[in-house]
Amino acid sequence: MTITTPAVPLVEKAARAPKSELHIHIEGSLEPELIFALAQRNNVKLAYDSIESLRRAYAFTDLQSFLDIYYAGASVLLTEQDFYDMTMAYCERALADNVVHTEIFFDPQTHTERGVPVATAVAGIDRALADAEQRGLTSKLILCFLRHLSEADALATFEAALPLFESYPRMIGVGLDSSERGHPPSKFGRVFEKARAKGLKLVAHAGEEGPPSYIYEALDLLKVDRVDHGVRSIEDAALVTRLADTRVALTVCPLSNLKLCVFDDMTKHTLKDLLDAGVAVTVNSDDPAYFGGYVNENYTAIIDALKLNDQEVYTILRNGFEASFVSPAERDALIAKLDAYWSGTTR
Ligand code: ADE
Ligand code: ZN
Repeated sequence: MTITTPAVPLVEKAARAPKSELHIHIEGSLEPELIFALAQRNNVKLAYDSIESLRRAYAFTDLQSFLDIYYAGASVLLTEQDFYDMTMAYCERALADNVVHTEIFFDPQTHTERGVPVATAVAGIDRALADAEQRGLTSKLILCFLRHLSEADALATFEAALPLFESYPRMIGVGLDSSERGHPPSKFGRVFEKARAKGLKLVAHAGEEGPPSYIYEALDLLKVDRVDHGVRSIEDAALVTRLADTRVALTVCPLSNLKLCVFDDMTKHTLKDLLDAGVAVTVNSDDPAYFGGYVNENYTAIIDALKLNDQEVYTILRNGFEASFVSPAERDALIAKLDAYWSGTTR
């Protein structure tokens, strides 16, 4: 499409653009204030005595150092209303960032191991997403398996959740998250095969901290539709070509990569190299309450650090709709909305 000279700075133009978010762990949207409020409501004892001391602990050195705190934060979630409140708080932030479509991950095993049924989590999350839909935010829900646990555990989780995939049309896929190193995608081949047989969408974290071989495994063994993160694909030229040719999208999370020391400086981020190579990269927030920003802050950080231009930002926004799990008609409508905005028609 023809791009006109931006009348507003590019970061502002991007912030106001209608956008998707395809990589957000709902438990990673729990702000410290809400963690403390829910801890009080549910009589849960936290290892931190104040909101400030919890926030001070958010100085991560790698993925595992973050996950330890993230699972502790999620321990305050007990009731359906807790899941509703967490999800609605995220939806408010997403709406403020002009997100019009979001695809949300949740980690049932984090809750079932504390005695909270997966049905309780899904009911609360879905009720909030239904309310947010009334306000212009459409959504999908993706159940993630924790890769540090066994495949047998993932299989049992999947079997227990099967009726929910029937009852909640928003729940359309499965994913793979948690500690990447030492837990390759190949560990979960059978459970992904079962999910595929049910017609579910498939995604997996790969190439965040793990090597390119984990991305190959996600593609070849799990047969994923999208790769979460995937930033280490840049180390393997054949893999980059394959991603570009097949248009399997990467859900990139710049602030997460910085906070978890995947890159020591945002100017070293590989997003632009991947974009230049024709890979369908998207921008997302991952765990916004922990990494210092929701989706618009991720756009701002990466535009500034990599000096992205108008066309590049448009391409990333468009990729975010093209890679979403909506119907072709819905996808076309979302892209038309973006195009009208980007060309100035609706600004
Ligand atoms: N769970 C929540 N955030 C994650 C991330 N960035 N990588 C892997 N697992 C996660
Ligand atoms: Zn993630």
